[in-house]
Amino acid sequence: MSFTFQDFPVADDDLRSDVLAGLSACPKAIPPKYFYDERGCRLFEAICAQPEYALCRTERALMASRLPDIAAAVGPVDCIVEPGAGECSKVRLLLDALHPTHLVVLDIAGAPLAAAAQALVHAYPGLAVTALGMDFIRDLEAAAPCLPPGRRLIYYPGSSIGNFPPEAATALLARFRQLAGADGQLLIGFDLKKDPLLLHAAYNDAAGITAAFNLNLLERLNRELGADFNPSCFRHYAFYNPVAGRIEMHLVSLAEQDVNVAGQRFHFALGETLHTEHSYKFRCDEFSALAQTAGWALKAEWAHGGFAVQLYG
Ligand code: AVI
Repeated sequence: MSFTFQDFPVADDDLRSDVLAGLSACPKAIPPKYFYDERGCRLFEAICAQPEYALCRTERALMASRLPDIAAAVGPVDCIVEPGAGECSKVRLLLDALHPTHLVVLDIAGAPLAAAAQALVHAYPGLAVTALGMDFIRDLEAAAPCLPPGRRLIYYPGSSIGNFPPEAATALLARFRQLAGADGQLLIGFDLKKDPLLLHAAYNDAAGITAAFNLNLLERLNRELGADFNPSCFRHYAFYNPVAGRIEMHLVSLAEQDVNVAGQRFHFALGETLHTEHSYKFRCDEFSALAQTAGWALKAEWAHGGFAVQLYG
């Protein structure tokens, strides 16, 4: 049993330059990866427990109920690689069923990742765990030298792929294809298109947790970039756009206001939006067409309750 942690720090400059570029664009936008500071990670866990947000529960139930079929379809695997592993809780089912010798987990939030990955070493004697604190969207290729030889399974659950626009999703899946190697596979979970009112409710929970998650981005910018956003002057606004097939999440300015960020001043008109996230929803055939463009061939799929998991080789 062994544990290795390697940190590929996300430079403050990245946050600064991404935010300044995003606030200078029209419409204003900030990449959703910046939601996940320490409080953002905790709020996301809380979102997953909200009655309206079934995504995580449905995926867990689907994985648990179909695990024997999934394990049979995947076959023998030496190494599981999970980008965006967070709490490392989802991969446990696969560790139980597939018994790989190596697990490599990647996440932009390095410290919580390291703690969660270390707990796995104790829970799975004999498993070698490597935790890579990295912005894998930027640095995925840097993970390649850290992967052991053997048959790899890339595990990308939680419909995180839905947070990328289709072209970027295809590009990321193509990079996963490279990382997996010629005999590698991809097991990926994504949220399905469904009643738009159900989708709308999932991103507008009654307890206001998704609103707090969205507004926390402004608090992060205040803290880390010395910005002076007044979060109470912005409204969390999320809706399903059926033409684009996505949830759109925005922070809408409730007043005409100026905000200073990292020494630059930005003007918000009354009603102007700061776009913070897209969350695409798919049909199974739509997703497999996208993955095929990225070089993956569909091997099996499981769908239930508005969520799907597909296996590619
Ligand atoms: C991480 N990702 C799949 C979530 C989603 O549903 O798109 C993030 C989220 N945003 C608001 N609620 C949850």
